[in-house]
Amino acid sequence: MDGNSLGAQVAAKWRKKRGSLIMALHEIQGVKGFVPWKDAMDLAVGMGIPLARIYEVLTFYNFFKLDAPGKAVISVCTGTACYLKGNDKVLEEFKKELGIGEGESTPDKMFHLQSVRCVGCCGLAPVCVVNGKTYGRLTPTDVRGILEEWRKKLSEDEEQN
Ligand code: FES
Repeated sequence: MDGNSLGAQVAAKWRKKRGSLIMALHEIQGVKGFVPWKDAMDLAVGMGIPLARIYEVLTFYNFFKLDAPGKAVISVCTGTACYLKGNDKVLEEFKKELGIGEGESTPDKMFHLQSVRCVGCCGLAPVCVVNGKTYGRLTPTDVRGILEEWRKKLSEDEEQN
């Protein structure tokens, strides 16, 4: 097990709390936009819950997604610290640049945009996370550069495959 995976971190946080599986899965989906197989696996090991049980829960609730809703999932934090430092304006800029709303994906499925609660880096507020990479002390003018970076990265990944 990769001790640093999100699934493992979330498992460590929720392990001792009874009936917390759904909260743990919400937390993973909140950061990544879906529940990747590897995180579900690490969560199972870390929480001592059979993987089959986790998949039962994931497939029972329509809310949970098992596939990435976009190649790059942009999670803009709207927790208190980030909100107070103006992350609503950053979120608006992402919407404008991408031409989509919160919870939506671009037609080419390149980007998915969502707002999430505190991602645990309040010291860097305002923050967004793209596929696990954290960007801190954001201003709306950073948005274009972040999107450029990911467009480049995604097209390089496609060329390699
Ligand atoms: S409120 Fe945004 S990281 Fe905590």
